[in-house]
Amino acid sequence: MPRLVFRNSGKVVEDINEIKSFLDKYGVLYERWGVDRLPQNLIENYELTEEEQKAIIDAYKEELERLKKEKGYITEDIVVLSEKTPNLENLLEKFKKEHHHVDDEVRFVVHGSGVFPLKLDGEIVEVWIEAGDLIVVPAGTRHWFELDENRKIKCIRVFKTPAGWEAIYDENCKATMKD
Ligand code: LAC
Ligand code: NI
Repeated sequence: MPRLVFRNSGKVVEDINEIKSFLDKYGVLYERWGVDRLPQNLIENYELTEEEQKAIIDAYKEELERLKKEKGYITEDIVVLSEKTPNLENLLEKFKKEHHHVDDEVRFVVHGSGVFPLKLDGEIVEVWIEAGDLIVVPAGTRHWFELDENRKIKCIRVFKTPAGWEAIYDENCKATMKD
């Protein structure tokens, strides 16, 4: 179940509309696109050919085009993390350090699950996402990422340029942000 967990109070929010409207106050977009439209092999396979990756992206063409037009994103790709990922532990070490980006971090989860802890007004709010969920963490929002007990996730990511989602670990280093 997608959910918010408030670190300070332990409060948990599971209602989709409540999740949406809470995150919206901080400019974080959360939507449920679902994965019903995808054949099982495209959902479960973590070693996708170019064609299979394209087929997943094509299945969400309408949503992706809307998002790209609205937010100025240019391109998308598929990213996977699983026990087959070379250097998984090193990658996860990096992802779990608090950081922000100069561009939005956009992820649509095709399979698996994970947690984006976000720092919102100084409070840490964990966003637990799973297959079918879209999250847009806006540029400048401090966050990090962890896998959960499933230990794998497969996502479409959408971006402007690869440079935009380089991690910036220093909280005070916001001078490089584009408008
Ligand atoms: C990233 C995620 C893991 O920056 O926050 O790639
Ligand atoms: Ni990030």
